[in-house]
Amino acid sequence: ANLVLLGPPGAGKGTQARMLQDRFGLVQLSTGDLLRAAVKAGTEAGLQARAVMDRGDLVSDDIVIAILRDRLSHPDCTNGVIFDGFPRTTVQAQALDDLLADIGSAITAAISLDVDDAAMVARISGRYTCAGCGEGYHDQFKQPAAFGTCDKCGSSEMTRRADDTAETVHQRLKAYHAQTAPLIAYYEARGVLARVDAMADIDTVAKDLTAIVAQTL
Ligand code: AP5
Ligand code: ZN
Repeated sequence: ANLVLLGPPGAGKGTQARMLQDRFGLVQLSTGDLLRAAVKAGTEAGLQARAVMDRGDLVSDDIVIAILRDRLSHPDCTNGVIFDGFPRTTVQAQALDDLLADIGSAITAAISLDVDDAAMVARISGRYTCAGCGEGYHDQFKQPAAFGTCDKCGSSEMTRRADDTAETVHQRLKAYHAQTAPLIAYYEARGVLARVDAMADIDTVAKDLTAIVAQTL
């Protein structure tokens, strides 16, 4: 199965992609994570992307598609991928269809995580991540069992993202509505769209998603 998770910043794409990865043995492929790794490594693409990401705008299709193509050629992707935060424009969606067609594959389901914008600011400003394994947490909605210590790997080093500020979140939501929301119609026209109420709690959303994905396998 190849799944696309669509939804604005804070909708829970990363949280649910990691859940689906563990449950179905698919590979989570987050262009946001790949871009942050490129920024950290100081690559040419990373240098160009950094300022754009800090503003909350979308990185150029050329850079993102090149990074994605590179990652997708890795052999661990052959069993199926969860695309998290990609595609974000119609150009990217077409490029993804072409890349998958080249390897005799296609998108099995595009799942829109439906949420209210107003709730996303609280979700994003409370978010933090384990530096050891990438597990996501939230000050209010998802605390580790032992304060400050990751449930999954035991690390006590937690990080917050540079772009998780109130002003940047508004710009990221704007970019979502202008450039990414049209992909809901794109995938609906291809008969692969499903929708989930992502205002529900994390476990309920996980259950709904699991049911949808199980049907596509
Ligand atoms: P990216 O890294 O993709 O960030 P994003 O889309 O803004 O999404 P987030 O990671 O903020 O949110 P999420 O939906 O994963 O939510 P999460 O599960 O963490 O992109 C960052 C930047 O990179 C972009 O702005 C752009 O510049 C660039 N970029 C990336 N991809 C690109 C592309 N394809 N093209 C161009 N540019 C690109 O959940 C959020 C918090 O809420 C967590 O703390 C979580 O614990 C909590 N939570 C989750 N679900 C629930 C729930 N149901 N109830 C309560 N709390 C919840
Ligand atoms: Zn961890």
